Amino acid sequence: MKQIMEARHLKLAVLASGRGSNFDAICQAIGQKDLDAEIAVLISDKPNAPVLQKAAARGIETLHINPREFPGRDSYEAVLVNELKVRNVDLVVLAGYMRLVGSVFLAAYENRVLNIHPALLPSFQGLHAQQQALDYGVRISGCTVHIVDEGMDTGPIIMQKAVPVYDTDDEDTLAERILLEEHQAYWQSLQLIAEGRIWIEGRRVVIKNHPED
Ligand code: GAR
Repeated sequence: MKQIMEARHLKLAVLASGRGSNFDAICQAIGQKDLDAEIAVLISDKPNAPVLQKAAARGIETLHINPREFPGRDSYEAVLVNELKVRNVDLVVLAGYMRLVGSVFLAAYENRVLNIHPALLPSFQGLHAQQQALDYGVRISGCTVHIVDEGMDTGPIIMQKAVPVYDTDDEDTLAERILLEEHQAYWQSLQLIAEGRIWIEGRRVVIKNHPED
């Protein structure tokens, strides 16, 4: 069994492509001292992502790195990893980052890239997870915080939170209900890592009561 990392004050980088409500929720948890961490940098692949303004307003350094300016994913990720390393980032948080993570990134941050997905994985991977859940007709959906591997939404699961799906739901109402849970699940998962309590065995995550147990 392998510990993700020893207990520490986490130095995070957040990667996001859009609105940034999960980014905001993590910032709030840090501000309220629920999460022992700091955000070294917010990186977006989209120049106009609202999350860039949100981070700037909080006085957090922002970077826009445009993947289209690189010949391929490896060279894009090499630059990304370099930006993380020079800031001594020890954990990468994908928060609505709509891009697959490749081998260059994962080699540099093995088991240290987290993602949140708006469904109970392994159901409804990929885009429009909430609409997929509605179309399938499930009665319960939710969110999943997981460690990122090379698949799409396939890595070891740290935490899941469930919500009911109502007959009257549309994609927006379900997404909103799930989002409330996302905003708790992400910082709670990160805090477990900060406390040194997350271990991995195969694809199973074990949460220890105490790091030495
Ligand atoms: C969140 O619902 C997150 O789970 C989802 O994008 C939204 C981002 O919202 N991520 C994915 O679908 C990744 N596959 P936010 O920008 O307000 O945090």
